[in-house]
Amino acid sequence: MTSGINFVAKQARAAGDGVKFFDTQFQRQARDRDFRLNPFELAALPHLHGRVLDYGCGLGNLAFAAAQRGCSVIALDASPAAIAHIRQRAAAEALPVQAALADLRDYQLEEDFDAVVSIGLLMFFDCPTAFKALEHLQAHVREGGIAVVNVLIAGTTYLDMFGADSYCLFSRTELESRFSGWNILSSEFSDFEAPGGRNKAFATVIAQKPRTPDEVRA
Ligand SMILES: C[S@@+](CC[C@H](N)C(=O)[O-])C[C@H]1O[C@@H](n2cnc3c(N)ncnc32)[C@H](O)[C@@H]1O
Repeated sequence: MTSGINFVAKQARAAGDGVKFFDTQFQRQARDRDFRLNPFELAALPHLHGRVLDYGCGLGNLAFAAAQRGCSVIALDASPAAIAHIRQRAAAEALPVQAALADLRDYQLEEDFDAVVSIGLLMFFDCPTAFKALEHLQAHVREGGIAVVNVLIAGTTYLDMFGADSYCLFSRTELESRFSGWNILSSEFSDFEAPGGRNKAFATVIAQKPRTPDEVRA
């Protein structure tokens, strides 16, 4: 599927059990008006500026926080509940957040961004698809721009959200190594307890794309 960010939402094809899992959660959170930022979103927020892409935006909490700080945001996700909520909230609050329903396993961006964020998405894809999507995201960051990427890594024992779909637990060093040549602003590992005494292990990288020598001199 090729889909630009011309805001013509396309019906996401069956994007997998990960989406069903979250769609139900987002309906509940929207009903309860639970719009808190998670710890990864809180860490990302100070780095966002200008034109921002939230790739796997969930309920859009980070997108709205960024828009309230002056960013113009494109928010993409395959959850119909999330995208419907974001559109309704953006209109109600007159904030520059544009949302589109998209299966991000196969999505072509047609614009470059000052900042791209992908928190908790790529592990829902098989590994080759996740690595390809990450490369695609990185290619659409402007020179000097920021990427914030967070994934589950090996050591994660809570896998219920993946259902029968394929998934990708990155190796511990994989994410940072894929930002080789970038200026790494932060690279962190964090563990969270999950139901049944199990564990979720995350890697989070915040990195700045290098400027070309010509741009630095100008
Ligand atoms: C762990 S949630 C993260 C949401 C948000 N970034 C946050 O930090 O709260 C994972 C998100 O990935 C989305 N997702 C999973 N598979 C997807 C796919 N194939 N295409 C687009 N979104 C997908 C889910 O709908 C959900 O919003």
